[in-house]
Amino acid sequence: MQLLCYTVCMAFFTDNKNDKNIFSVRDGVLYIEGVSALSLAEEYGTPLYVYSKRSIKDRCREIKEDFLDRYPGTEASYAAKAFLTPAIAELIDGEGLMLDVVSGGELFVALAGGFPASKIKFHGNNKTREELEYALRSGVGRIVIDALDEIDLLEEAAKRLGKVQKVLFRITPEVKAGAHDHITTGQRNSKFGIPMDGHIIFPLIEKSLKSENIILSGLHFHLGSQLFEDAPFLEALGKALDLVLAVRDRYGYTMPELNVGGGYGVHYVDGEERKPYSYFVDPIMKKVDEYCASNDMAAPVVGIEPGRSVVGEAGVTLYRIGSVKKIPEGKTFVSVDGGISDNIRHALYDAEYEAVIANKAGDLPSVRAVVCGKLCEEGDRIISDALIAEPERADVLCVFTTGAYCYSMASNYNKMTKPAVVLVDGEASEVLVKRQEYKDYLSTER
Ligand code: LLP
Repeated sequence: MQLLCYTVCMAFFTDNKNDKNIFSVRDGVLYIEGVSALSLAEEYGTPLYVYSKRSIKDRCREIKEDFLDRYPGTEASYAAKAFLTPAIAELIDGEGLMLDVVSGGELFVALAGGFPASKIKFHGNNKTREELEYALRSGVGRIVIDALDEIDLLEEAAKRLGKVQKVLFRITPEVKAGAHDHITTGQRNSKFGIPMDGHIIFPLIEKSLKSENIILSGLHFHLGSQLFEDAPFLEALGKALDLVLAVRDRYGYTMPELNVGGGYGVHYVDGEERKPYSYFVDPIMKKVDEYCASNDMAAPVVGIEPGRSVVGEAGVTLYRIGSVKKIPEGKTFVSVDGGISDNIRHALYDAEYEAVIANKAGDLPSVRAVVCGKLCEEGDRIISDALIAEPERADVLCVFTTGAYCYSMASNYNKMTKPAVVLVDGEASEVLVKRQEYKDYLSTER
């Protein structure tokens, strides 16, 4: 019996490429760190986002070892859009990372978590006047200029508020990379970034150099998300360095910073294995060093902005299975008590996931099923082809790698309430986000 359980558990681990330090199977039940997924579902209800604190810390430490410590003077900012609550802001700060925010709301939550404003970068292709003022007043470290007239808006606001603001220009390097068109941002026709055409970028650079309220710190690019190859980074880096050099030659000013964005891929399904940060940053740093040495140029402070890779694999979603519908000669539809309201990624990007029935984690997966939600959309699917143990009503389904862009993209469609978020730390768990209640609707809806 023991041998059978061992074989079955090993099958789970061999098939499942998620963080083996975080997940385990004990007596046929899935554990997240030292807590049973079933007890979490019982205590906090479902759907439930669960994060492993250790996994987030492990990723932050890997960034520190592979990048920050290995290449002194570099900077790493966690991209808050992947997942942010005040407690997460505090955790990220404690791990020595900086933060990238993209809206007044993200800035507000980060500050509420005590994140030092000076370590925050403010992004966005359409920042409002109010957001720019909020960022200036808060004293954010950098504002990343993206709109073509943003420098004028910023200068006017900074002057009025008596502030001097460091900025980066987000450029469009015209390199196409990304797992899906909707998460590909470095191509010429993108709403993000400033085209590198001389007649567009140089006047903006000139303006920033002349301004008394703006300090030009450098350039920024972000290519896209869920990337597994370093080649696109190196191609874009070459173009960015050429621009740094051109600015030096033209204006006699060497921009001191260069940010290469985020986008490092994580494991969702087979064929997608998270690579160590060193895989990306080593060649990037080598190229920067070589380029600068051969052009007799001071090397810039290089920054990265990982989001998904920090929190993606740390998070899972627990659902309660309801209806199981086997269509004769068709598919099996396993409906869970959430859906596109808590995970829009399949509908939006054809994203796929792996899942396990938490109370049958020792059973060999034998059923192919569509895991769908309970919302009023045919496209309300989470997994189009899951391989799971025999599903039954009241089972708890755990969907892996939902730590990034699930809670942060959750909606109230069909008046679904947003799930609670729980952080597991060893054998303890705490609520980071309370489950929404129906009555919460009435606090804003008249
Ligand atoms: N920096 C900038 C300027 C970004 O726009 C992003 C992501 C990041 C950093 C972080 O990228 P990451 O390391 O997380 O790939 N909702 C989509 C992903 C959108 C990414 C938007 N920008 C998804 O669920 O796949």
